[in-house]
Amino acid sequence: MRGAFITLEGLEGVGKSTHRDRCKAYLEERGLSVVVTREPGGTELGERIRTWILDAEHDNLSAEVETLLMFAARGYHIDTVIRPALDRGHWVLCDRFTDATFAYQGAGRGVGPDLLLPLKAAIQRDLEADLTLLFDAPIEVGFERIADRSKDHFEREDRAFFARVREGYTELARAYSGRYRVIDAAKPIEEVWAATVAQLDQFIERFGRE
Ligand code: TMP
Repeated sequence: MRGAFITLEGLEGVGKSTHRDRCKAYLEERGLSVVVTREPGGTELGERIRTWILDAEHDNLSAEVETLLMFAARGYHIDTVIRPALDRGHWVLCDRFTDATFAYQGAGRGVGPDLLLPLKAAIQRDLEADLTLLFDAPIEVGFERIADRSKDHFEREDRAFFARVREGYTELARAYSGRYRVIDAAKPIEEVWAATVAQLDQFIERFGRE
């Protein structure tokens, strides 16, 4: 049986990566075989693209070029890692996926659906996340948590940019309410984790029945 494809989304500093690692352990305790991966990244090509884009020195990228690089990394990631793992019955937990391009390059930078939708269709074909967990918090929460670290290409953006990205995610959650579950990430970490577990439990039960 094909495995489940779960994506994790949210602004920087909301605790997404901590919960990703906990999700992996939680699913494995339930006897599932889990592949954890991330975007941009997850392959040698993807990690190189990631390093290049996130380098704060590379600030001369147009929003369109940024979009194409994200989809190039994603296409290779899908073909060589995600689809093969799902086909072998593994569950794939992906730290960001196409929704991040719609939120950051789309809502954040103003790239339109005329570019985003055909790229999504060409690169994903019939692949779609079965569950997307959106860790949502006011932008101030993330800003405070990343305040002390040196900023990459995206982290250097201003509040207005992140406000647009957050709104973009909220719109995606509305548009794809079937696969989206929004988790209030402004709460204390153990409460966020309890809410995450509740969503995973519901999903495991639903996916087993489908
Ligand atoms: P990370 O901080 O979750 O590892 O993600 C790296 C950065 O890349 C983050 O600032 C969001 C950004 N990003 C995009 O702008 N578009 C995309 O399609 C993806 C996957 C990530």
